[in-house]
Amino acid sequence: MDPKDFRNCMGHFATGVTVITSEATSGTHGFTVNSFTSVSLDPMIVLVSVDRNTNALNVLDNNRFIVNVLSEEQKMTAVHFAGKTQDPEPFEWEDGKLGNRIKDSLAYMECEPWAAYDGGDHVLYLGEVKNFQYNSGNPLLYYCGRFSEVAVT
Ligand SMILES: Cc1cc2nc3c(=O)[nH]c(=O)nc-3n(C[C@H](O)[C@H](O)[C@H](O)COP(=O)(O)O)c2cc1C
Repeated sequence: MDPKDFRNCMGHFATGVTVITSEATSGTHGFTVNSFTSVSLDPMIVLVSVDRNTNALNVLDNNRFIVNVLSEEQKMTAVHFAGKTQDPEPFEWEDGKLGNRIKDSLAYMECEPWAAYDGGDHVLYLGEVKNFQYNSGNPLLYYCGRFSEVAVT
C-alpha cells in the first residue's frame, strides 16, 4: 500500500478546518489542523493529531491549547498557519481564557492538557475543554486536498 495514495483516500473524508493556538516562550504559536475530533462529553475531551515534524509538537507538550474552528471567511488564515505566512496577517488576535485566540472564528474550545499518545508519525494530543464558545456562520471545509465551503440551499 502506498502512503501517498492512502493520503488521497483519507482526503475523501471531508472535514472542517481549525487552527490550534498555544502559548510558547517565543509568543503564540498557531498551526492549521484538520485531524481534530471530539472524544468525550464527561469529561469534555477533544483530540488533535500532530505531525512529529512540526514545531507544534514541542509547543503542545504538556501545554494548554485553543482549538479555533475556522469559518468560510478565514481560508487565508488557514493558509497562513499552514506554513505560507501572509503579510499582512489575515486575522486579529483576541484574548481567550487560556491564551490568545483568532478573532471571529466559528467556535473555540480552550483546553488544559489531558494526555498524549503515540500515533505513529503523529502524536495524539488530548485536551480537557475548560471553556467553549460558538458563533453563527458557515464553516471552512477541506476535501480532497482543497478548501471548500458548505453548499447553502
Ligand atoms: C487543511 C490543512 C490541514 C492540516 N492538518 C494538519 C494536522 O491535522 N496535523 C498536523 O500536524 N499538520 C496539519 N497540517 C499541516 C500544518 O498546518 C503545517 O505543517 C504547519 O506549517 C505546521 O506548523 P509548525 O511547524 O510551525 O508547527 C495541515 C495543513 C493544512 C493546509
